[in-house]
Amino acid sequence: MKEPKQLMVSAIQNGTVIDHVPAKNLFKVIQILGLDHIDNQITFGTNLESKKLGRKAIIKISDKFFEDDDINRIALVAPDAKLNIIRDYEVVEKKVVEVPDAITGIARCMNPKCITNFEEVTTRFRVVSKKNVALKCHYCEKITSQENMQII
Ligand code: CTP
Ligand code: ZN
Repeated sequence: MKEPKQLMVSAIQNGTVIDHVPAKNLFKVIQILGLDHIDNQITFGTNLESKKLGRKAIIKISDKFFEDDDINRIALVAPDAKLNIIRDYEVVEKKVVEVPDAITGIARCMNPKCITNFEEVTTRFRVVSKKNVALKCHYCEKITSQENMQII
């Protein structure tokens, strides 16, 4: 007999469910979205099985609906994340994250001589490739590619 499908983390009444977050980047997503500074109820599960990601995390934030610009900031650490907008226990909308045109903070510039690496300057990049994410530094113009991207 087939086991009934069970939710690993309880359903929420209203809010946002962020699914398919790579387990290793769960806390980066929490940090980028500032979830450690808000009063909303938040539940999460991690190291859940996922055919696509190996191990995934899921985050459920009650009574919170993000602006696209805010949510797209997680694209560097959770490119396959799926957002589910929940109203009255129903999934009313599904969204995917999109790599934005510009990124402030989040990543380090790979050029050791870049000012952002030795002064208190927030990094700033233009996204020059969205598929294999490549970032062009606003200050030194060097390209930081996916392979050598370090998240701050
Ligand atoms: N969810 C929730 N609370 C609800 C409804 C849904 O937390 N009231 C969560 C589910 O646990 C699931 C996600 O929102 O993680 C999406 O729900 P649903 O579309 O019903 O699930 P699936 O069909 O499995 O979604 P998909 O295959 O698109 O990931
Ligand atoms: Zn730089």
